[in-house]
Amino acid sequence: MIISFVNGKGGAGKTTTAILVAMALREAGHAAAVRDLDPQQTATRWLADSPELLDAGAPIQLLDTPPRLDSATVSTAIREADTVIVVSRPSPCDLFTSQDTARLITNLRAANKTRLLFTNVREKTILARGLDQTAKEIGLPMLKTYLQLRESYQHAVLAGWKALTQEAREEVGRVALAIVTVLH
Ligand SMILES: Nc1ncnc2c1ncn2[C@@H]1O[C@H](COP(=O)(O)OP(=O)(O)OP(=O)(O)O)[C@@H](O)[C@H]1O
Ligand SMILES: [Mg+2]
Repeated sequence: MIISFVNGKGGAGKTTTAILVAMALREAGHAAAVRDLDPQQTATRWLADSPELLDAGAPIQLLDTPPRLDSATVSTAIREADTVIVVSRPSPCDLFTSQDTARLITNLRAANKTRLLFTNVREKTILARGLDQTAKEIGLPMLKTYLQLRESYQHAVLAGWKALTQEAREEVGRVALAIVTVLH
């Protein structure tokens, strides 16, 4: 199974989300790993001490893509994926690039099996209350679950699953389940 994490916007959260979801799937007993397609090699460097999370032979491959919409690598990752996840912060700064990303995906493949996943969400804020509207403006169905802005997620990409509180683990677990469920 191939799941591609995309957004033309740099810093939207693609690498962090792909790594967290890979960890959650492994915790749930599934052999999942990140395939690093970004020349910046962020995931490869972050996961230097966790080679199992970069296992190219794992049956569930989470593709971490570069922040480029004009790249053949990104187009291929979109076309070849079973599921495409557009990772976006709810910020207005990300809106236009998320819309461009949604348009590119619609041009490259059938509209189903693509979902919007919000990350860096701060609950009880105006932006958090507007997620449904933002998803409409981006033009993609959103996953019902999202990732909050949590400093522990930054620790986890280096220190692993143990860096997360129970609440954070459950949140990532719900997101991982929602992503895998898109295929069913
Ligand atoms: N849910 C989150 N909570 C807190 N910090 C986050 C979260 N998601 C991402 N970050 C932080 O935001 C920054 C950008 O995240 P990340 O590198 O995952 O984005 P990206 O889309 O892969 O960026 P690029 O396009 O440059 O590859 C990082 O410092 C990361 O630690
Ligand atoms: Mg990245």
